[in-house]
Formats: sequence, C-alpha cells, structure tokens
Amino acid sequence: MAGQIPQRFIDDLLGRVDVVEVVGERVQLKKAGRNYSGLCPFHQEKTPSFTVSADKQFYHCFGCGANGNALRFLMEYDKLPFPEAVEQLAGRLGIEVPREGADDPRAQQREKKRKEGVNLLELAASFYRERLKMQEGQSAQHYLSGRGLSDDVIKTYGIGYAPAGWEALKQHLSERGIGEPVQVEYGLLIHREDTGRTYDRFRDRVMFPIRDLRGRTIAFGGRVMGDDQPKYLNSPETPVFHKGRELYGLYEARQASSKLEQLVMVEGYMDVVALAQYGIHNAVATLGTATTEDHLTRLFRLVSRVVFCFDGDRAGRQAASRALETALPQMIDGREARFLFLPEGDDPDTLVRREGTQAFQDRVTCAMPLSEFLFEQAAQGRDLKTVEGRERFASQVLEALNKVPEGMLKSLLLESLAQRSGLAQEQLKVLLEKRAQASQRTLSKGTANGDVSQEQGESDSASSAMPGAVLAAPALSPRSRSQALSPVGRIVQLLLHEPNLVATLPDHLEWLPEDDDAPLCRELIELLKAGRYRSPQVVLAHFQGSQQGQALAVFAKRELLIPKPDREAELKGLVEHLQYVQRQRSPQEEYAALLAQERAGQKLDKEQRRRLASLVMELAQRQ
Ligand code: UTP
Ligand code: MN
Repeated sequence: MAGQIPQRFIDDLLGRVDVVEVVGERVQLKKAGRNYSGLCPFHQEKTPSFTVSADKQFYHCFGCGANGNALRFLMEYDKLPFPEAVEQLAGRLGIEVPREGADDPRAQQREKKRKEGVNLLELAASFYRERLKMQEGQSAQHYLSGRGLSDDVIKTYGIGYAPAGWEALKQHLSERGIGEPVQVEYGLLIHREDTGRTYDRFRDRVMFPIRDLRGRTIAFGGRVMGDDQPKYLNSPETPVFHKGRELYGLYEARQASSKLEQLVMVEGYMDVVALAQYGIHNAVATLGTATTEDHLTRLFRLVSRVVFCFDGDRAGRQAASRALETALPQMIDGREARFLFLPEGDDPDTLVRREGTQAFQDRVTCAMPLSEFLFEQAAQGRDLKTVEGRERFASQVLEALNKVPEGMLKSLLLESLAQRSGLAQEQLKVLLEKRAQASQRTLSKGTANGDVSQEQGESDSASSAMPGAVLAAPALSPRSRSQALSPVGRIVQLLLHEPNLVATLPDHLEWLPEDDDAPLCRELIELLKAGRYRSPQVVLAHFQGSQQGQALAVFAKRELLIPKPDREAELKGLVEHLQYVQRQRSPQEEYAALLAQERAGQKLDKEQRRRLASLVMELAQRQ
C-alpha cells in the first residue's frame, strides 16, 4: 500500500539530521580535531579506529572499512530495513515520510503541507528582515541601535521586525499560496476558536529567528520594544520546534568558528547577540526554559567545555544548582563544565557593555569548575568544623557522585571529598557503592510498597548511608548536635580510645590548627609518642586533677561508635582534611573570594585589586 519514498525527501532528510548525533547516541564519541572518534561498533577493537565527520556527514572505520551516512548507520547498527531507517530519522525531526504515487489524497495533502511548513518559516524570516529595513521598521531599527547592535550583527543573526498590523504576515504568505492551517500549525498565525478568526502571532516586535544546526529557521522569538507583556513571545511547539531541545545561537556560533572548543550558555536572546557584538561568538541561550539533558547532549557533542552563566542572585544560584544536577550524568571523561556567576543585577549583555570583551572573557576563563560548585553547594549552611556538618556535607556530595559516570572526574571528586570531609577514600568508596546499590534497589522495586519509601527516605540521610561504621551516628540527633566535636576534638577522642593509632600520625604536627582543643591534642600526641601509655585509663590518670584531665574525661565518656577497623581510616582522613585546610587556598578559590567580596559591595583595596589582576593572568595561563 505504501508507495516509494521520494529521493528528494531522503536528500532533504539527510541534510537535516546530524550523523554525529545519530551515531553519538549509540557509540561513545570523542572529539578529535575536526572529526569524532570512538570504538567501532561493527568490529571488536581496543583502540578507536572509527571516525565520524560532521562536515562530510559520513562515518568511516579504518579497521573494518564500515562506512556510510546516517541512514546506512541506522540500517547496520539498529538492523533496520531501509524504509524503517528513513522513518526513524524522520521521526527525530517530527516529520512524516511521504510516499510517491500513493493514491491516498490525504497523504499527498500531508506532503504538500510539510513542504509548505519548511518553506513558510523561511519566507516569514525573510519577510521580517525586509520589514526591518522599510519605513515601518524604523522604530525597531532605532531600538536595536539603541541596544548597541551593529548592522553586521543584525544581519548575522537575521534579526527582523514583525509589523504592527493584525494580518501583515498572513497576507504576505497567503499571497504566496500558503494556506492558513499550515501557518497556524507552525505557530505564525493564531486561530481563535470562539470567533473563528485568524491573526498574526507576532505583531510590532523585534524578531529573532531560531535556526537549526543547518541554518534553517525553525521558530521565532519576538521582543516588544516597550513595556508590554510578555517581553518575549516565542513560537509554540510545532512539528519542527521543540523548546527543550533547541538552543538560540548554536548555528551562528558554529558558523563563526570551525573549531569551537567551548560554548557559553546564557539566558537570553539579547545576551547572545550582545556578546557577538563584542566579538564573543560562542554564546548560546536556552529558550526561556531550564537547561535540559537534551541541551547538554547537543552541546557536548560539539565542544568539550560548557560554561554556564548565571545571575549572581539567589534565583541564579538555584538555576545553577539545577543545571549542575542535569550535567552530572553527562560528565564523561574529556568533558568539562564550569559555572560563571555574574554580579548581581547584571546579565551578560549589560556586563560585556560595561566591562568590555577582555574582562568578560577573563570571567569565563576563571569560571568555577563543576567540582568547586558541587562542594560549595554541599557545604552551604553547614559547619564543616563539626563532625555532623562534615557528615552531611559528605552525604550530599556522595549523592551527587552517584550520578557521575565512572572516570577521572569521579575519582578526583572522591579524592577531594576525602580531603575536605576528613573521611578516608576507601570508606567513601564503600559508601558510594552502597548508595548505588540502594538506589538501584529502589528503582527496581518501584515505589508501590511501604518498605521502599522508607528506603528512599533513608538513602537521603547521612545516617543510613554512613552506618556507625564511619562516623558517630548520634551526631545526627538534635541532642548531640550541640556537642558536636571539632576535627581536633575528634582526633583527641580517637587517640584516647586507641592510643596505638598515634603511630599512624605524620611526624610533624604542622597540620594541627590553633583551636581550643589544639594544646590538649598536641600534649596527648607527644605523650603517646613518647611511650608507655597504652590504654585510656592510664592516659586519664596522667592528666588526673588538671583542667585537661576534665576535658579528656568528657571525651572518654563519649563512645566512639565506630568499629575498630575503621578508626585508623577515620584518623587518617581527619589529618588529611586538616592538611588540606592548612594548605594555601588555590588561586581559583582566592579569585572567587575576591570576586565575592567585590560582588557583596565591599571595595577592594589597591593590593587586592593588584592580586585579582595577577590571579586572572595566572588562571588564564593555566588554560
Ligand atoms: P530576561 O527577562 O532575562 O530578558 O529573559 P533578557 O534576555 O535580559 O532580555 P532583554 O535584555 O530585556 O531584552 C531571559 C530569556 O527568557 C525568555 C527569553 O528567552 C529571554 O531571552 N523569556 C523572557 C521569555 O521567553 N518570555 C518572557 O516574557 C521573558
Ligand atoms: Mn537583558
């Protein structure tokens, strides 16, 4: 019953899908120069000889000779017959596959409509561009130049103007034989059910065409020039436009450079074009939605580093933390994500205008690495000087780590977490493993029965993921919270219960911070090192009657609550933690601290400004 698929349709289809995306969904690809490479899915190999070229839209394996385009790949890899492979590809784009000579008039009708749809968005885009240049577009021209945009940038981004009337575009398109239903379907025309009337969706607005990777217009965003609401009006979801997938400016960014290495993710249309105006051509924007997994998948196929820009305010931090959640599962080796927080009240548009290109680029260069942001989030509102605070901190980081794919980043994060939390890496690994199993159990069981919800609840709290085995569990109860120990206090307690552990401490004590428990800790360590005290009782006897003796007695009464084999690991972790804290802050942290100070409205003095400048240089050179 189904007729032949027209060759023109197939050509068109291949012109619109990206072979890198199609292959990348099935084979792990890494960017290698202009191409991508990976392990060949068609033969067994240990080193990658399979390459995919975005330019040629072609894959080729130097090992087994497999080669072809996106269609061929689907046929071979998914073992699909030709028509099904075509259906698959067309389905990705949300379009229907036409059949030649199908005597079904409805099929012919559909095909006609599809062609119209593709054409019509291009026609609309050029209509808007033309109108901007005419008399009626003067106010829009004025608006755009008022926002500092040159004719060049306006042209590059194809910015236009939708006239003020109710039917300007409708008339223009109808004169060219395009029916109203298809105009409605592609979001250009609004159809009112009650009156049956149709009218232009975009009126008296500056128009930003949204293009797919091949440069075809698939939707629009239109900005009012005054204070009307909504400020931006976007095309609705249509057969060719899916908001959660597309990124404004991606096509233009690729046009600007054939070897993009990083993309900067901003919030708005104007941010993208303003940055371009200032020579920064690698910005893209989501279309009024939060960052989705789809967005990131697309970005990471094109570049290895993504820098997210957010407002410095609370909402910005929240958006950043959602982006972090979305990014974690995507962080395979070779990918990098960073977070750039803008001064409060600024967006990239206002900032680049005020500070200029170089300063903005410096900010991008020094943006906070994903790991820093993750730790910062987990540390927020927690006192890491207390066991309880560190326990919760570690628990939150572990929860995030659970989502990170195996690889370098995960190992580095684990190492860093050990340092920061004072827990030994081996312990953390065990906990991570438990957590992964627990979440798998939860997933496979579903949420229907009561047991499971309990399990889910528990997996959120530190106490179950970190059974007594790791840290004193009662630290979580409100009563003992007030008596939380400092790391040094905990070391004293550990040594008191296990004097033998003193042998595992480093020779020098420069890691010991000068806090209240430090003198006691130092004296205890020296005593234990010197010799004969092998049990808590004897140690206590030594200090009997002194103030320190009283303090020690309190420590002695508190049980360790962790089994013997884990005590050494905890002590080691605590010392590593303190050593880490002692060490100089990283330039990255110092830079962030200075920026934060400036952002908080405190003026930097001359010395600090000089330091900030040299940090920017230093960090830039490291890139
Ligand atoms: P903003 O309100 O931050 O605007 O919206 P902006 O980008 O700074 O724009 P200008 O500088 O005032 O021109 C950020 C993004 O959120 C979406 C748009 O994608 C916008 O670029 N948005 C915003 C809408 O879709 N509708 C709106 O009414 C407002
Ligand atoms: Mn703005």
